[in-house]
Amino acid sequence: MKRKILVLNGPNLNMLGTRQPEIYGHDTLADIEGRLRKQGKARGLDVDCRQSNHEGELVTWIQEARTTCAGIIINPGAYTHTSVAIRDALAACDLPIIELHLSNIHKREEFRHHSYMTAVVTGTILGFGAYGYELALEAMVRLVDGPAAAPKPKTRSRRKK
Ligand code: DQA
Repeated sequence: MKRKILVLNGPNLNMLGTRQPEIYGHDTLADIEGRLRKQGKARGLDVDCRQSNHEGELVTWIQEARTTCAGIIINPGAYTHTSVAIRDALAACDLPIIELHLSNIHKREEFRHHSYMTAVVTGTILGFGAYGYELALEAMVRLVDGPAAAPKPKTRSRRKK
């Protein structure tokens, strides 16, 4: 069974940490990817993190993932609001797909309110900053392995009265 999750980041996300930190936070992409790989390892998943500023490269990676991966987590950056090509590539992918945004795009400029991706993905996580990537990976574990794979809450021992 395939156990690889592709984590894709689009244009300008290589600049995380220094790019408008008041919106995108202080973590670098390397910080986020390092944590994701660790989290994936603990959950038995191989996390393949890639970033590109080029639309065609993202399309090619999505096409490849159809036969090599169990799921895709994607922050398409500004392509969210412009790219029919990335949407079509995702639509052709019969895999669980999570669209992710660090910021709440609906609270921002109007041109960011529409996503070409939302209608073709499994679900969307937005507005939680870098923590959103962790949430997305947990959601992906559930999509790939089923609800039984979710971590169990700790049970407290009953105290005698
Ligand atoms: C973003 C939101 C987009 O509107 C923007 O162009 C980005 C990042 C986010 O993660 O909040 O580059 O996808």
